Amino acid sequence: IKIAVLMGGPGSERQVSLASGNAVLKALLSLGLDAVPVDVTSTSFDLPPGTGLCFNLIHGTFGEDGQLQEILEEKGIPYTGARSKSSRIAFDKNLAKQAFLKAGVPTPKSEIIDCTNGPTLPSFSAPFVVKPPREGSSVGIEIVKNQDEALDAITKASQHSKDLLIEEFISGAELTVPVIDGKAYPVIHIIPPEGVYDMATKYPWLSGKTTGSQYICPADLDLETTLAVQAAAVAAHQSLELEVYSRVDVMLDADNRPYVLEANTIPGMTETSLLPKSAAAAGLDFPALCQKIAELSLQ
Ligand code: DAL
Ligand code: MG
Repeated sequence: IKIAVLMGGPGSERQVSLASGNAVLKALLSLGLDAVPVDVTSTSFDLPPGTGLCFNLIHGTFGEDGQLQEILEEKGIPYTGARSKSSRIAFDKNLAKQAFLKAGVPTPKSEIIDCTNGPTLPSFSAPFVVKPPREGSSVGIEIVKNQDEALDAITKASQHSKDLLIEEFISGAELTVPVIDGKAYPVIHIIPPEGVYDMATKYPWLSGKTTGSQYICPADLDLETTLAVQAAAVAAHQSLELEVYSRVDVMLDADNRPYVLEANTIPGMTETSLLPKSAAAAGLDFPALCQKIAELSLQ
């Protein structure tokens, strides 16, 4: 079976995606599989003749939001990850929030504001987080610690999107949990150098400037908390009807209560990315992880 490794994409996470794509390509080739790279630069792209499976590593716009999935569904080509409808909902933080609330998944209190006619303030006050609802890798996210920064932050974020998700700021530990085939993997605790886990501290190799983040896997949590965090991640994954795999981002407050932020349906897949770290802690090395995702996607 010929596997087309789709990478790049037209969105703001293009560089991250190229890194994920090349890492997965290398892993599939190391297993002796017939894998070929496809750099997708626009929404019209060609697949190599005889493609039997697309391994999709296009993060963000087009690749993660259901558009690419819909094209592949129309072509009848199997692909990795969530279906088009689930992808669209998971990628839109406003729609995902509704799904979480409906299913009783713990998630921070939030509000959607409409900035079509200029920036507006939410009904609750700082601290809160402002999120353009359809971006990844923290693109456009603003953390508002004091109310007097609110308007500036909302103005800035509204350059990415007119509808913005305002989320209560949860002070505590930043965690992430892969869910593969319905099962939660070891929890990762992320410790960013200056307390903010953003583009620069996620991918220090992109800017060459910062020292990057520290990761503890498995996270140093008691068993009860670990199980609660993993249960929240699985519940979030299921509430969005995701299949195959996702990586669920969770905040843990000072009382060890988990709050799901989002489920990433095309999580970063460089060899140092979070999902591969967690899989490795569970005994699944990077090539085996890639093979497992491909196999589950063909079922
Ligand atoms: N959006 C990035 C790639 C992630 O979630 O890993
Ligand atoms: Mg994301």
